[in-house]
Amino acid sequence: MRGRMARWMSTTAMSIVALACASACGVPDSFRTISDRGASIRNLFDILLIISALVFLLVAVLLVYMLIRFRERPGAAEPSQTEGSRTLEIAWTVAPVLLLTGVFVITARTLIHVHAAPAGDPVRIEVVGHQWWWEFRYPDLGIVTANELHVPVGESLHFDITGADVIHSFWVPRFGWKMDAIPGKTNEMVLTVDRAGTYDGACTEYCGAEHAWMRIRVVAEPRDVFDVWVRGQQQPAGPAQGAAADGQRVFLGNTCQNCHAIRGTPANGAVGPDLTHFGSRATIGAGVVPNTPDNLRDWIRHAGAVKPGVLMPPFNLSDSDLQALVTYLESLR
Ligand code: CUA
Repeated sequence: MRGRMARWMSTTAMSIVALACASACGVPDSFRTISDRGASIRNLFDILLIISALVFLLVAVLLVYMLIRFRERPGAAEPSQTEGSRTLEIAWTVAPVLLLTGVFVITARTLIHVHAAPAGDPVRIEVVGHQWWWEFRYPDLGIVTANELHVPVGESLHFDITGADVIHSFWVPRFGWKMDAIPGKTNEMVLTVDRAGTYDGACTEYCGAEHAWMRIRVVAEPRDVFDVWVRGQQQPAGPAQGAAADGQRVFLGNTCQNCHAIRGTPANGAVGPDLTHFGSRATIGAGVVPNTPDNLRDWIRHAGAVKPGVLMPPFNLSDSDLQALVTYLESLR
């Protein structure tokens, strides 16, 4: 019994340390939100936590007091038996009703705030969850990219979130909340990012073998920096030169273009990520490995070995073709 108690206590202590560390050591979490509406969810959480803690304390203190005050003592007479007390009955009915009404009101106010229409003219971003990567489209800007999302700081963002195959969930913890990406349905999320920075996210609805490798990277930057990124992304791929031109021939001469698009070339597949600016992305396979020529070579040769279950088939290219293809793709910046 004592062993079990000790184990329980040490597990609890470790959980508390882990939670405290997750908060303090910079692990991305919903408790350090960087969005306006995330902040109101955070406030609601804080208020509910305080209310719950006070109720818990009240009950725990009363319980412990009763246990000690009215415990059985040798020789003591049976305590007086009371039954029914109108005052008490009314008190413990009315108090929770008032408390829960208050909780309902502040929760409803938060919900209304979080789901309100965006102010002004928001930056519209379509989010499509795929097995196992994220497609980000900016319909008003003519940009299609994957897994990496750039947004301007301090401006209203309007996300239209859906799924291409199964249910995924779009979760950037520091936005403050998450939203399911459901095929055939569009969920909306509106928020303003308050602080520049790079924020990680992930899929948070189990969606198959590589659910764990559907990472999201959000780069929030000042408007002028964002505009530079937008102008870069709007450009089609320029004419390939030298070794890159050989690589482009390999790309267009194989089945790559059945699945991938590169604007500025005849390749316009829509099954896999748009590769027009592939070289500007930090990772391959939605976060599974850094985007380096060596990793890209392994990826093209046998993506399934890097990310088991991935839909991209292995490619049996000659060493020189593979090298040219890697040079070409990395040149797409
Ligand atoms: Cu997509 Cu889990």
